[in-house]
Amino acid sequence: MALPNKRRPIGVFDSGLGGLTVVREIAKLLPTEDIVYLGDLAHLPYGNKSQRQITRYSQAALKFLKKFQIKLGVFACNSASATSYRKLASTFSIPMVSVIEPAVGEAVSRSSSGRIGVIGTEATIRSRAYERYIKREDPKARVTSQACPLFVSLVEEGWVNGAITTSIAHHYLAPLKKARVDSVILGCTHYPVLTKTLQKVMGPNVHLVHSGLSTARSVKRLLGKKYLPRGARQNRRTGRIRCFVTDSPNRFQVLGQKFLGRSIGQKVASVQEVRLDV
Ligand code: DGL
Repeated sequence: MALPNKRRPIGVFDSGLGGLTVVREIAKLLPTEDIVYLGDLAHLPYGNKSQRQITRYSQAALKFLKKFQIKLGVFACNSASATSYRKLASTFSIPMVSVIEPAVGEAVSRSSSGRIGVIGTEATIRSRAYERYIKREDPKARVTSQACPLFVSLVEEGWVNGAITTSIAHHYLAPLKKARVDSVILGCTHYPVLTKTLQKVMGPNVHLVHSGLSTARSVKRLLGKKYLPRGARQNRRTGRIRCFVTDSPNRFQVLGQKFLGRSIGQKVASVQEVRLDV
C-alpha cells in the first residue's frame, strides 16, 4: 500500500559509512523524519573508480532505496554526486539532492576573497564538478582543488589526529595554503571526521564547509517547500533510522558511531546486509 507522502522516509546512500555524517545532520535538523540509509560497502571505494562504474553502483543503490517508497533521495557520496548525479537525478520521479550544490552555496557565501579550496577523492576532483558549480555561482572565483586519497583510509583506521595524519594533511593542503584560500569544501563524506586536524593545518581563519550540514539544510528546504515534512505537531515521535550495507555489517559496529555520533546512533533501529542488483 502506498504511504502518504509525509510519512515516507528519506533515502540516503553512500559508498560506505561516511554518508552517515550526512544522516547525522539530517537527523539533527529533522528529528521526526524516518531515514533509510544504504552503505554500498561491497563496492567501496567509489573514489578511485571510473565514472561509468560509479554510475552503475549509484543507479543500483537508488533502485534499492526506491523500494521503501522514499519521498526524497540524497546522494550522500561526493564521488557519486560529482560523477553521476546529473545523469541519474532526472531519471527518478522523486526529488534528489546531491552534496555538491549545497556545499558550494555555503563556500561562496562565506568566502570574502573568492579564493576557494576543494578537497576530495580522485573521482570527485577529476570530474571538476565542484569547480563548475562554484564558477556558476561566482564566475570570478579562483578554485584550488586537491585530491586527498589517503584521508579515507586514515579515517577508516581511526587515525584522525596525531603526527602522521597532520603531516599528510600538511602535504595535501600545501597548494591550498599557497593559494591563500579562505574557504575549503570538505568534498568527501569521510573528511568531517578530520575537522580538527584540517582546521589546525589551514589556520583558524579558514572556513571549512561540511557538505553534511549544508545538504541537510537543502533537504529541509526542499521538504518544506513541496514534499510535506512530518509535522512536528501531528507526529511527535522521533524518526527511525534503518541502515543497510552490501558487505561487512560488522564494520558498522566499529565505524557507525564515529560517523553518526552517539546521540544519533541510538536512533538506529536496525542494520542489515543486502545485495544490490548491479
Ligand atoms: N564516500 C566517498 C566520497 O564522499 C568516499 C569514499 C569512497 O571513495 O568511496 O567521495
